[in-house]
Amino acid sequence: MRFDVFTLFPRMFDGLLDESILKRARERGLVSVHLHDIRDWATDRHRSVDDYPYGGGPGMVMMAPPIVHAVEAVLADELQTTPIIALSASGEPFTQAMAAELAQHRRLALICGRYEGIDERVHLLLRTREVSIGDYVLTGGELAAAVMIDVVARLVPGVIDPESVQEESFTSGLLEYPQYTRPPEFRGLKVPEVLLSGHHARIAEWRRQQALCRTKARRPDLLARAQLSEHDRRLLESCPDTGSAR
Ligand code: ADE
Repeated sequence: MRFDVFTLFPRMFDGLLDESILKRARERGLVSVHLHDIRDWATDRHRSVDDYPYGGGPGMVMMAPPIVHAVEAVLADELQTTPIIALSASGEPFTQAMAAELAQHRRLALICGRYEGIDERVHLLLRTREVSIGDYVLTGGELAAAVMIDVVARLVPGVIDPESVQEESFTSGLLEYPQYTRPPEFRGLKVPEVLLSGHHARIAEWRRQQALCRTKARRPDLLARAQLSEHDRRLLESCPDTGSAR
Protein backbone atom coordinates (compact mmCIF):
# COMPACT_ATOMS: atom_id res chain seq x y z
CA MET A 1 0.00 0.00 0.00
CA ARG A 2 1.25 3.45 -0.91
CA PHE A 3 0.65 6.53 1.27
CA ASP A 4 1.18 10.03 -0.17
CA VAL A 5 1.39 12.65 2.57
CA PHE A 6 1.03 16.37 1.79
CA THR A 7 2.46 18.54 4.56
CA LEU A 8 4.30 21.78 5.36
CA PHE A 9 6.46 19.85 7.85
CA PRO A 10 7.73 16.63 6.25
CA ARG A 11 10.45 16.28 8.89
CA MET A 12 7.78 15.68 11.54
CA PHE A 13 7.53 12.15 10.14
CA ASP A 14 11.25 11.44 10.66
CA GLY A 15 11.72 8.46 12.92
CA LEU A 16 8.00 7.68 13.26
CA LEU A 17 8.03 5.38 10.25
CA ASP A 18 11.50 3.94 10.78
CA GLU A 19 10.89 1.68 13.74
CA SER A 20 9.45 -1.72 14.51
CA ILE A 21 6.53 -3.04 12.46
CA LEU A 22 6.25 -0.11 10.03
CA LYS A 23 9.97 -0.26 9.33
CA ARG A 24 9.74 -3.97 8.55
CA ALA A 25 6.63 -3.50 6.39
CA ARG A 26 8.43 -0.81 4.37
CA GLU A 27 11.57 -2.92 4.00
CA ARG A 28 9.47 -5.84 2.78
CA GLY A 29 7.79 -3.60 0.21
CA LEU A 30 4.31 -4.03 1.74
CA VAL A 31 3.97 -0.34 2.61
CA SER A 32 5.57 2.82 1.21
CA VAL A 33 5.23 6.38 2.49
CA HIS A 34 5.96 9.34 0.20
CA LEU A 35 6.23 12.77 1.80
CA HIS A 36 5.45 15.89 -0.28
CA ASP A 37 6.25 19.42 0.89
CA ILE A 38 3.26 21.60 -0.06
CA ARG A 39 5.57 24.63 -0.20
CA ASP A 40 7.21 23.14 -3.31
CA TRP A 41 3.94 23.98 -5.13
CA ALA A 42 3.67 27.60 -3.91
CA THR A 43 3.19 29.93 -6.87
CA ASP A 44 4.33 33.39 -5.71
CA ARG A 45 7.90 34.52 -5.19
CA HIS A 46 7.47 34.48 -1.38
CA ARG A 47 6.48 30.81 -1.58
CA SER A 48 3.29 31.63 0.37
CA VAL A 49 1.12 28.75 1.49
CA ASP A 50 -1.25 30.59 3.85
CA ASP A 51 -3.12 33.89 4.05
CA TYR A 52 -5.66 35.82 6.15
CA PRO A 53 -9.22 34.48 6.26
CA TYR A 54 -11.79 36.31 4.13
CA GLY A 55 -14.41 37.71 6.49
CA GLY A 56 -11.86 38.25 9.25
CA GLY A 57 -11.12 36.24 12.35
CA PRO A 58 -8.03 34.89 14.04
CA GLY A 59 -5.15 33.00 12.45
CA MET A 60 -4.27 32.01 8.93
CA VAL A 61 -5.83 29.69 6.36
CA MET A 62 -3.96 27.31 4.06
CA MET A 63 -4.35 28.48 0.46
CA ALA A 64 -6.05 26.27 -2.11
CA PRO A 65 -3.70 26.51 -5.14
CA PRO A 66 -0.53 24.93 -3.68
CA ILE A 67 -2.44 22.00 -2.16
CA VAL A 68 -4.60 21.32 -5.24
CA HIS A 69 -1.60 21.55 -7.58
CA ALA A 70 0.47 19.26 -5.35
CA VAL A 71 -2.19 16.56 -5.06
CA GLU A 72 -3.04 16.67 -8.78
CA ALA A 73 0.62 16.47 -9.81
CA VAL A 74 1.49 13.60 -7.47
CA LEU A 75 -1.63 11.46 -7.95
CA ALA A 76 -1.77 12.17 -11.71
CA ASP A 77 -3.81 9.46 -13.45
CA GLU A 78 -4.75 7.93 -10.07
CA LEU A 79 -6.44 11.13 -8.86
CA GLN A 80 -9.96 9.78 -9.40
CA THR A 81 -9.37 6.37 -7.83
CA THR A 82 -7.36 7.34 -4.72
CA PRO A 83 -9.19 8.31 -1.51
CA ILE A 84 -8.01 11.77 -0.43
CA ILE A 85 -8.17 12.28 3.33
CA ALA A 86 -7.81 15.73 4.92
CA LEU A 87 -6.86 15.59 8.59
CA SER A 88 -8.87 18.08 10.62
CA ALA A 89 -10.36 18.36 14.11
CA SER A 90 -13.67 19.07 12.33
CA GLY A 91 -13.67 15.80 10.41
CA GLU A 92 -15.71 12.62 10.88
CA PRO A 93 -14.24 10.34 13.56
CA PHE A 94 -11.54 7.86 12.54
CA THR A 95 -12.49 4.32 13.60
CA GLN A 96 -11.17 0.78 13.17
CA ALA A 97 -14.01 0.20 10.67
CA MET A 98 -12.87 3.17 8.55
CA ALA A 99 -9.29 1.86 8.71
CA ALA A 100 -10.42 -1.57 7.47
CA GLU A 101 -12.24 0.07 4.57
CA LEU A 102 -9.25 2.27 3.64
CA ALA A 103 -6.89 -0.72 3.82
CA GLN A 104 -8.71 -2.18 0.80
CA HIS A 105 -7.21 0.53 -1.43
CA ARG A 106 -3.74 0.29 -2.92
CA ARG A 107 -3.06 4.00 -2.46
CA LEU A 108 -4.14 6.70 -0.01
CA ALA A 109 -3.49 10.48 0.01
CA LEU A 110 -3.34 12.37 3.31
CA ILE A 111 -3.42 16.18 3.50
CA CYS A 112 -2.18 17.64 6.79
CA GLY A 113 -4.00 20.83 7.79
CA ARG A 114 -2.31 23.57 9.81
CA TYR A 115 -3.32 26.94 11.25
CA GLU A 116 -7.07 27.68 11.29
CA GLY A 117 -7.75 25.23 8.50
CA ILE A 118 -7.71 24.71 4.75
CA ASP A 119 -9.52 26.82 2.11
CA GLU A 120 -12.85 25.03 1.58
CA ARG A 121 -12.26 24.88 -2.20
CA VAL A 122 -9.56 22.23 -1.61
CA HIS A 123 -12.25 19.91 -0.24
CA LEU A 124 -14.68 20.73 -3.05
CA LEU A 125 -12.17 20.34 -5.88
CA LEU A 126 -10.40 17.22 -4.58
CA ARG A 127 -13.52 15.70 -3.00
CA THR A 128 -11.64 15.05 0.22
CA ARG A 129 -12.92 13.08 3.16
CA GLU A 130 -12.25 15.14 6.33
CA VAL A 131 -11.19 12.91 9.21
CA SER A 132 -10.46 13.60 12.90
CA ILE A 133 -8.55 11.16 15.11
CA GLY A 134 -10.30 12.30 18.30
CA ASP A 135 -12.06 15.08 20.17
CA TYR A 136 -9.02 17.22 20.91
CA VAL A 137 -7.06 19.80 18.95
CA LEU A 138 -3.57 19.00 17.66
CA THR A 139 -1.18 21.69 16.40
CA GLY A 140 -1.63 20.22 12.92
CA GLY A 141 -2.64 17.15 10.98
CA GLU A 142 0.82 15.54 10.85
CA LEU A 143 0.50 13.45 14.01
CA ALA A 144 -3.03 12.50 12.96
CA ALA A 145 -1.75 11.36 9.54
CA ALA A 146 0.96 9.30 11.25
CA VAL A 147 -1.70 7.66 13.42
CA MET A 148 -3.81 6.82 10.36
CA ILE A 149 -0.81 5.37 8.52
CA ASP A 150 0.04 3.22 11.53
CA VAL A 151 -3.52 1.91 11.96
CA VAL A 152 -4.17 1.27 8.25
CA ALA A 153 -0.71 -0.18 7.48
CA ARG A 154 -1.01 -2.94 10.08
CA LEU A 155 -4.21 -4.13 8.35
CA VAL A 156 -2.39 -4.59 5.04
CA PRO A 157 -2.10 -8.37 4.44
CA GLY A 158 1.29 -9.69 5.58
CA VAL A 159 2.18 -6.81 7.92
CA ILE A 160 1.10 -8.59 11.12
CA ASP A 161 -0.28 -11.93 12.24
CA PRO A 162 -4.01 -12.07 11.23
CA GLU A 163 -4.96 -13.65 14.59
CA SER A 164 -3.82 -10.55 16.47
CA VAL A 165 -6.22 -8.44 14.42
CA GLN A 166 -9.14 -10.79 15.20
CA GLU A 167 -8.67 -10.74 18.98
CA GLU A 168 -7.97 -7.08 19.53
CA SER A 169 -10.08 -4.26 20.88
CA PHE A 170 -12.65 -2.75 18.47
CA THR A 171 -12.42 -5.57 15.91
CA SER A 172 -14.44 -7.70 18.33
CA GLY A 173 -16.49 -4.75 19.62
CA LEU A 174 -15.13 -5.13 23.18
CA LEU A 175 -11.98 -3.93 24.91
CA GLU A 176 -9.24 -6.50 25.40
CA TYR A 177 -8.87 -8.67 28.50
CA PRO A 178 -5.82 -8.10 30.76
CA GLN A 179 -2.59 -9.90 29.89
CA TYR A 180 0.10 -11.37 32.16
CA THR A 181 3.54 -12.88 31.57
CA ARG A 182 6.41 -14.06 33.80
CA PRO A 183 7.12 -13.82 36.69
CA PRO A 184 4.09 -15.50 38.32
CA GLU A 185 4.35 -13.14 41.31
CA PHE A 186 5.68 -9.56 41.35
CA ARG A 187 5.64 -7.31 44.44
CA GLY A 188 3.00 -9.50 46.02
CA LEU A 189 0.74 -9.43 42.97
CA LYS A 190 -0.03 -12.91 41.65
CA VAL A 191 -1.09 -13.84 38.15
CA PRO A 192 -4.77 -14.95 38.36
CA GLU A 193 -4.86 -18.65 39.20
CA VAL A 194 -7.04 -19.57 36.24
CA LEU A 195 -4.36 -18.50 33.72
CA LEU A 196 -1.92 -21.01 35.23
CA SER A 197 -4.51 -23.83 35.27
CA GLY A 198 -4.07 -24.95 31.65
CA HIS A 199 -7.87 -25.27 31.51
CA HIS A 200 -8.65 -23.67 28.14
CA ALA A 201 -12.41 -23.37 28.52
CA ARG A 202 -12.11 -21.70 31.94
CA ILE A 203 -9.42 -19.36 30.64
CA ALA A 204 -11.60 -18.36 27.70
CA GLU A 205 -14.55 -17.71 30.03
CA TRP A 206 -12.42 -15.62 32.42
CA ARG A 207 -11.06 -13.55 29.54
CA ARG A 208 -14.53 -12.99 28.12
CA GLN A 209 -15.77 -11.79 31.50
CA GLN A 210 -12.78 -9.47 31.95
CA ALA A 211 -13.33 -8.00 28.48
CA LEU A 212 -17.03 -7.48 29.21
CA CYS A 213 -16.46 -5.89 32.64
CA ARG A 214 -13.71 -3.58 31.35
CA THR A 215 -15.86 -2.47 28.47
CA LYS A 216 -18.77 -1.82 30.83
CA ALA A 217 -16.55 0.26 33.14
CA ARG A 218 -14.55 2.18 30.52
CA ARG A 219 -16.63 2.24 27.34
CA PRO A 220 -20.35 1.75 28.04
CA ASP A 221 -20.98 3.21 24.55
CA LEU A 222 -19.19 0.21 22.97
CA LEU A 223 -20.99 -2.27 25.21
CA ALA A 224 -24.37 -0.90 24.14
CA ARG A 225 -23.51 -1.70 20.49
CA ALA A 226 -21.81 -5.08 21.10
CA GLN A 227 -23.39 -8.39 20.10
CA LEU A 228 -23.98 -10.12 23.45
CA SER A 229 -25.15 -13.67 24.14
CA GLU A 230 -27.31 -14.70 27.12
CA HIS A 231 -24.14 -16.09 28.65
CA ASP A 232 -22.38 -12.71 28.21
CA ARG A 233 -25.26 -11.02 30.05
CA ARG A 234 -24.89 -13.42 32.97
CA LEU A 235 -21.13 -12.78 33.07
CA LEU A 236 -21.82 -9.02 33.14
CA GLU A 237 -24.01 -9.39 36.23
CA SER A 238 -21.00 -10.31 38.35
CA CYS A 239 -18.71 -7.43 37.32
CA PRO A 240 -17.33 -5.49 40.27
CA ASP A 241 -18.92 -2.02 40.58
CA THR A 242 -15.54 -0.29 40.29
CA GLY A 243 -12.00 -1.30 41.18
CA SER A 244 -10.52 -4.27 39.39
CA ALA A 245 -12.32 -3.62 36.10
CA ARG A 246 -10.93 -0.11 35.82
N1 ADE B 1 -5.79 18.58 13.37
C1 ADE B 1 -5.96 19.18 14.56
N2 ADE B 1 -6.60 18.39 15.43
C2 ADE B 1 -6.87 17.22 14.75
C3 ADE B 1 -7.54 16.02 15.10
N3 ADE B 1 -8.06 15.82 16.31
N4 ADE B 1 -7.62 15.04 14.16
C4 ADE B 1 -7.11 15.23 12.92
N5 ADE B 1 -6.49 16.36 12.54
C5 ADE B 1 -6.36 17.35 13.44
